[in-house]
Amino acid sequence: MGKNGYLPLFETRPARGLVFFRSYAASIFIGICFICFHRVSYFPVTERWVWVGMFVAELWFSFYFFITVIVKWNPVFRCTFKDRLSSRFEEEELLGVDIFVCTADPRLEPPTMVVSTVLSVMAYDYPPHKLSVYLSDDGCSDLTFYALLEASGFAQLWLPFCRKLKVEPTSPEAYFQTTPEPVDDAFMANEWLIIKKTYEDMRIRIESMTRLGKVPADIRKEHKGFDEWDFVVSRHDHPSILQILIDGRDPNAIDIEGKALPTLVYLAREKRPQIHHNFKAGALNALIRISSRISNAPFILNVDCDMHSNNSKAIRDALCFFLDEDNGHEIAYVQYPQTFGNLTKNEIYGSLRVVMKLELAGFDGNGGPCYIGTGCVHRRESLCGMKYSKELIVESKAMKYDTKIIEKASSIEENCKALASCTYEENTPWGKEMGVKYGCVVEDILTGICIQSRGWRSVYLTPQREAFLGMVPTTLLDTLVQHKRWAEGDFQIFLSKHCPFVYGCQNMPLKLQLSYCIYLFWVPNCFATLYYVFVPSFCLLKGISLFPKISSSWGIPYLYVIVVHRVQSLVEFVWLGGTVRGWLNEQRMWMFKRTTSYFFAAIDNILKLCGFSKSAFIITGKVADDDLNRRYEQESMEFGTSSPMFTVLATLALFNLFGLVVVGTNKAINDDARIKVFDIFGFQILLCCVLVFVNLPIYQGMFFRKDSGKIPASVTLRSIAFALLASTLAMY
Ligand SMILES: *[C@@H]1O[C@H](CO)[C@@H](O)[C@H](O)[C@H]1NC(C)=O
Ligand SMILES: *[C@@H]1O[C@H](CO)[C@@H](O)[C@H](O)[C@H]1NC(C)=O
Repeated sequence: MGKNGYLPLFETRPARGLVFFRSYAASIFIGICFICFHRVSYFPVTERWVWVGMFVAELWFSFYFFITVIVKWNPVFRCTFKDRLSSRFEEEELLGVDIFVCTADPRLEPPTMVVSTVLSVMAYDYPPHKLSVYLSDDGCSDLTFYALLEASGFAQLWLPFCRKLKVEPTSPEAYFQTTPEPVDDAFMANEWLIIKKTYEDMRIRIESMTRLGKVPADIRKEHKGFDEWDFVVSRHDHPSILQILIDGRDPNAIDIEGKALPTLVYLAREKRPQIHHNFKAGALNALIRISSRISNAPFILNVDCDMHSNNSKAIRDALCFFLDEDNGHEIAYVQYPQTFGNLTKNEIYGSLRVVMKLELAGFDGNGGPCYIGTGCVHRRESLCGMKYSKELIVESKAMKYDTKIIEKASSIEENCKALASCTYEENTPWGKEMGVKYGCVVEDILTGICIQSRGWRSVYLTPQREAFLGMVPTTLLDTLVQHKRWAEGDFQIFLSKHCPFVYGCQNMPLKLQLSYCIYLFWVPNCFATLYYVFVPSFCLLKGISLFPKISSSWGIPYLYVIVVHRVQSLVEFVWLGGTVRGWLNEQRMWMFKRTTSYFFAAIDNILKLCGFSKSAFIITGKVADDDLNRRYEQESMEFGTSSPMFTVLATLALFNLFGLVVVGTNKAINDDARIKVFDIFGFQILLCCVLVFVNLPIYQGMFFRKDSGKIPASVTLRSIAFALLASTLAMY
């Protein structure tokens, strides 16, 4: 029983196996101490600087390890009591929730996918008249509008169907793909087939329209909304378009069973070429303002358009936190993990598994997860910049949330357009103190930091059945570029005035400030890693020993730290549900990201600091085709384009291969000497072997593959030249 005399609506449980983890961490710490002692006491007389470099790299790794330990020190897991929520609150008393879906480009984010996401969130197990769904279309595409119009009609069938069959997942696309026809009930089976047919017809109509590229005149006549496109010059130059497709307050907005429907709103905010639109953050802020006039719900869920709901109870779960009488008042947002519906079995490009299943739970134990931009339920007040304080919350509870604005939909549409105009925010706190922050490529992380430093807490919820399923990039380059963007933005936060150590020092616990470093310091990781994958092999060719002899007992701490650290990571990965091959892939991606994504992010950060604003590297992905999808499903690594990132990867891979070959085939030394060489250079040779093993797909991509996903010849030639140059420098 809580202090207000109620049973709590949620419970917090510590993770298991903490003693194990903490003793492991302590033992690694001791190993690190030995390594440092060795580095200092065996300081060489010649070639000091490479030794210092090794030591600095190791100190950096140790520091990063320390941060990781802080993050994983005390993970907590939450569970909710939805039955208590239902018994405590009548359906009528449940508070409203506004759902924001953002899309930006109808070519990259097909309208069929967008409507599946929209339908999946409209069908939440929640009183429909308390839900409002807003779609922000930064592509300003009449195709997307057309698709949403179709969806508003289909919702009248889909929502009753979901209620009747307790459909999961509520995305029609995912549902019909994964669920077989119900066979035991002939009546149900019939209805199932009808709905499926209706859905497919709709999908085909939307798809053929998308292929056509424009909406034909006869369809444009059917809805007055299309008239708005008469004023659209291009997607970068048009007035605000606001259309309320379903008005939840209208008694005529009902499904085929006569039940209410959620409000459904389409918004394309005004864009003008000369005015900066602040990307997704700008779109979200426009939605916050527009929704405050239409439904003004106290809670806001935001999802990306490629993330459909996989759990129709997710909103009830989140409300269990906000409405908890004892602890709910201080919670600003409930973050769900980002999980992916289209991973391959062994997650060839990595999957954020450890981040989502463990690290963010660790954040939660340290004071609250970061906001990751999607799958997150916010309290409107905290998102709008309110500081946390007990009195304010009591006050705003007394304020009536559902202020009935008795305005007709058409007049709202007209009145609200100004809120989405591109000059509205001039000289206002929007984007600075209010709403989602501007000026950072990871606006989500920054916004989360700001909310937390205003005194709010956040919680992380990983329900048994995943709440949302999104899409991962399906090529190597897309994955690397995505991580480059994240790493760059995160480091930018560290360098800015919003650095958690400065900005959050009053209200964020120290352990949470430190936890943020695990992501904010992705970029500096690249230097230590690049040093470690290049210099030991270079010195191997040059004949400089950088590690203790294999036969020396100083080798033990090195071996212990390296082996146990990796074994722990393997155990953790498998314990979190991954496969052993998946772990190997994760290790490979770990290295690729550090040597390319973070490195290029570092270069861009440095350029920015020097005053060059534009990135020097223009990197684009590939449009997916059937071949590419087949290779993805077969888990064959996709290269295919000549990107500078691949040149870096291939050069490092070849250089290590040369090192190994030269040392392995050196005829000049006899067998006796060979044993001695192995004794002295054992660690460097082992490191080289590991690197060659990790890089196997790269050699394959350069020399053994014929498909269009191989490494292009130009990249191969360039890398061979670079690697030969480096080896020659080392040997002569
Ligand atoms: C998504 O939901 C379905 C049931 O609707 C469930 O079987 C599946 O395990 C869920 N996916 C994940 C990744 O949790
Ligand atoms: C992943 O998504 C892409 C479309 O984005 C699709 O073509 C591909 O088949 C999916 N792969 C898997 C394994 O589900």
